[in-house]
Amino acid sequence: QPAVPEAPVAEIAVIGGTGFYSFLDDPVEHAVTTPYGDPSAPISVGTVAGRSVAFVPRHGPHHDHPPHGIPYRANAWALRSLGVRQVLAPCAVGGLRHEVAPGDVVVPDQLVDRTFRRVGSFVESGAVHLPFADPYCPRLSGAISTAAPDVKTGGTMVVVEGPRFSTRAESRNYADQGWTLINMTGAPEAALAREMGMCYSAIALVTDMDAGAESGDGVGQEEVFALFKANLERLTGLLSDVIATAPDPAGCGCSTWSDGLELTYDVPGAGSGVRA
Ligand code: ADE
Repeated sequence: QPAVPEAPVAEIAVIGGTGFYSFLDDPVEHAVTTPYGDPSAPISVGTVAGRSVAFVPRHGPHHDHPPHGIPYRANAWALRSLGVRQVLAPCAVGGLRHEVAPGDVVVPDQLVDRTFRRVGSFVESGAVHLPFADPYCPRLSGAISTAAPDVKTGGTMVVVEGPRFSTRAESRNYADQGWTLINMTGAPEAALAREMGMCYSAIALVTDMDAGAESGDGVGQEEVFALFKANLERLTGLLSDVIATAPDPAGCGCSTWSDGLELTYDVPGAGSGVRA
């Protein structure tokens, strides 16, 4: 793992859409570099609810990175190198079943990774297998439900490779599995956070009903962006409430599950190392 500062720059982070920039008070940019290259953008650190909060816009400041091109490893590494222990991950999702509707905010408790061309681990060698049965931090997710009682909790989010939306047959198949939500960025983000020993919870805004659940023309990018924009203030308000009440991450399983594992990295031209 990266050398972690004794006095963390920020202990809690938000990985979110570009619209979240304005949510930090007095932001300062940290141009962090990592063995995996640059994160999606310099990390902004500012204050929310009296706490120091790091923010990285997942798709970059100008939406330059498509879901399969996001520097997931650099983002996780950069946040951990600033001392981050907890990650809140707002994201846009499609609804697969009519238990959810556009405008709902859902905190899923399970994840199915259907991506296939992303590097999903920091582990480069050795038999290192991280527990991931519960991909989201139960304590942090619990704090979200407490701070925002109107969010729906539970459900499985399937993460597809994209960047295209799913066909009706794919979408119906995912719904038939019992999965509730569909998204393109939740993996490997959650697993990399776990490898870095950071608590991670997704906060999913349903922007559309995916092709299988929708009778019209299927999903379009415009409706996804428009619904996300319309709910930005609500989401940033929710994040502030969660940040104000987030539990102390010390001793949480998310950080201790990886204790004792040798997480090595070896990047040509950038050097190698072993987790402390
Ligand atoms: N993100 C938002 N809506 C989505 C959908 N229907 N499929 C995949 N990712 C999405």
